[in-house]
Amino acid sequence: MSQIITARFPSNIALVKYWGKHGNQLPCNASLSMTLSRAHTEVKLYYTEKKGKDAQLEYLFEGQPNEAFGQRVLRYAQRQPVFADLLYNFDLRFESKNSFPHSAGIASSASAFAAIAAILLKASPASDTDDFIRLASRLARLGSGSACRSFYGPFAQWGYLEGINGSSDEFAVPVTDIHDNFKQLRDTILIVEDEPKKVSSSVGHGLMKHHPFARSRFAQANDHCMKMISVLKNGDFEAFISITEREALSLHAMMMTSGNYYLLIKPDTVRIIEQVFQFREATGLPLCFTLDAGPNVHLLYPESVRDKVRPFLEHYLQQYGLKSVIDDQAGVGGEIY
Ligand code: DP6
Repeated sequence: MSQIITARFPSNIALVKYWGKHGNQLPCNASLSMTLSRAHTEVKLYYTEKKGKDAQLEYLFEGQPNEAFGQRVLRYAQRQPVFADLLYNFDLRFESKNSFPHSAGIASSASAFAAIAAILLKASPASDTDDFIRLASRLARLGSGSACRSFYGPFAQWGYLEGINGSSDEFAVPVTDIHDNFKQLRDTILIVEDEPKKVSSSVGHGLMKHHPFARSRFAQANDHCMKMISVLKNGDFEAFISITEREALSLHAMMMTSGNYYLLIKPDTVRIIEQVFQFREATGLPLCFTLDAGPNVHLLYPESVRDKVRPFLEHYLQQYGLKSVIDDQAGVGGEIY
C-alpha cells in the first residue's frame, strides 16, 4: 500500500540578492524576496514499504523519469539525518510538475526544493513539531538556498541581520510589517531568452569566494536588507525602487567583475531597462525592474497601477520579440495536503 502526499510551493524573486555562500549552504549576506503566486512546483510523493535493502528514489518530471535530478534529491535526502527513518523504511517515488513552462527561464530550484523538503519532512516522524515551517525552510535551504524563502509571503527574509529579531542564516522568516502600498505587488516576467544559462548559479556563488568586491558587496546587501525592511513598513516607493534596481544591477556587476568574468544580460535586457527608466520619468508611476541570474526582466508594480502600466507592456515591449510574458503577483507561500 502506498501513501501519497502532495505539496505545492511557489517560486520567489529576490529584491535583495543572495549571491555568495559558505559552509553548509550558508549565505554570505542577508537577502529578501517577494513570494510569487502562480509560478509554482507541484510535487506528489508516493511512499511504499521498502522491498529491497538500498534506498530507492524515483523522480518523474512532467511524466518523464529525470534520473539526474532524482540522484540529486537522493543525495540531498541522505545527507539530512531527519529523513533517515523515511529512507530506511520506504521506497520513494516523486511526480513533479511546474505551472510555468520548463524553458521559461524562471529558476525552478526554489519552488522545487521548497516542495521536496516540505513533503519529505511531512512523511517523516520529525513532522510532529510546532516548528514545522521553520524546520522545512531550513531543510529547503540545504537543497537550494533561495528555496528557504518560499515558505512565507508576500515577503521573506533570510540571513542574520543585527537588530532584526529572529533573523537567521539557517532559515527564512516572514517580513511581517507590510504597508498597504506593497501588499499587492505584481510581477510581469518578460522572457528575453529561454535557453539554459551558460554559467549556473552554483558557479556564480563560487566566484564570490575570491571576488575583489566581495566584502563591500556583502555589506551593501545587508544594508539594503535593513533598509528594505523599513521601506516595506513605511510604504516609500521611491526607496523601494532605488534599492530593488540597484540590487539587480549589483548582482550582474558581480558577474561582470569576477575572476572568470561573464555576462548573462542581453541587448534586449538593457533596452527594456532603459524603457523602464523612460516610462517612469514620463509618467511618475512606480514601475521598476529586477533581474534574476539571467537575462529575463521582472517588472514590479502595485496592482493599483496595473491598467496604466498595461499600455507600456503592450506598445513599447512588443518590438522585442519576447519569448513569452508571465503575469504573476505576490503570494502567500506553499501548501501541503
Ligand atoms: C540570483 O538559490 O539558486 O536567484 O543555493 O546554489 O541553489 P543555490 O543557489 P540559488 O541562488 C539564487 C541566486 C539568485 C538570488 C536570490 O534568489 O537571492
